[in-house]
Amino acid sequence: MRIIVQNTKCQGHARCAAHAPHIFKLDDTGYILPGNIEVAEGEELTASRGARSCPERALKLDRE
Ligand code: F3S
Repeated sequence: MRIIVQNTKCQGHARCAAHAPHIFKLDDTGYILPGNIEVAEGEELTASRGARSCPERALKLDRE
């Protein structure tokens, strides 16, 4: 599974990182770092919760 990060939508709410700081890394100003995120096996549930918690819908789930 992969998370597609849409940086232009991020407003720095940091809810994603509150769910899973090891998956969703923020920059010094609290915005998500650019680049899609490859989710490790076993982390899918945590990652999808974090992605869905974003009020700006900046994090899209890509299940292949
Ligand atoms: Fe940004 Fe959404 Fe996370 S606004 S910091 S991607 S909760």
